[in-house]
Amino acid sequence: MNVIVIYDSYFGNTQKIAETVARQLNGKAVRVDEVSLDTIKEADVVIVGSPIRGWRPSEKTQALLSSWQAQNFTGKKKAAAFDTRVKKWYSGDAAKKIENQLRKIGFEIITPAKPFIVLGKEGPLADDQIEAATQWGQLLNEKIRS
Ligand SMILES: Cc1cc2nc3c(=O)[nH]c(=O)nc-3n(C[C@H](O)[C@H](O)[C@H](O)COP(=O)(O)O)c2cc1C
Repeated sequence: MNVIVIYDSYFGNTQKIAETVARQLNGKAVRVDEVSLDTIKEADVVIVGSPIRGWRPSEKTQALLSSWQAQNFTGKKKAAAFDTRVKKWYSGDAAKKIENQLRKIGFEIITPAKPFIVLGKEGPLADDQIEAATQWGQLLNEKIRS
C-alpha cells in the first residue's frame, strides 16, 4: 500500500501533524510544492492537509487541487483531508473544502475531514494534538485495510 501525506505549512505545525499521520501509515509526508502528478498516480492512498488561511486551504494547496481537476481517479484511490486552525477564530473549514474537491475527482473518502488545533497563528499545537494525530492515523490505517 503506497500512502502519501501531502501538506503545506508556514510555521511547522501542519508539518508535525502530517509527519505523525504518515508514521502511523508507514507512508511518506511530502510538502505540497514537491509533489508531482506521477507521485499521485502511483499512490493508493492520498491524505491532504493544510493550515487554514482566510477560511480556506493555503494557496499552494488550492493550486495543487485545481491542477488535478482534469483527472478522474474513480475507483483507484482512497483519501482523507485535515487542516490546522486557531479555535478561537471563526475558523472556516479548509479540511472540508479539500475533502469535497477530492471527492469531486473520484477519490473515495475513507474518514471525515479532521481539524487539528493550534494555540496561536504561529502555533504551537494544542497539547493533545500530536496524540490526536496518532489516533487519527490509526483510524485511517483501519479504514485502509478494511
Ligand atoms: C494570514 C493568516 C490567515 C489565517 N486564517 C485563519 C482562518 O481563517 N481560520 C483559522 O482558524 N486560522 C487561521 N489562521 C491560523 C492558521 O490556521 C495557523 O497559522 C496554522 O494552523 C499554523 O499552521 P502551520 O504552522 O502549519 O502554518 C491564519 C493564519 C494566518 C497567518
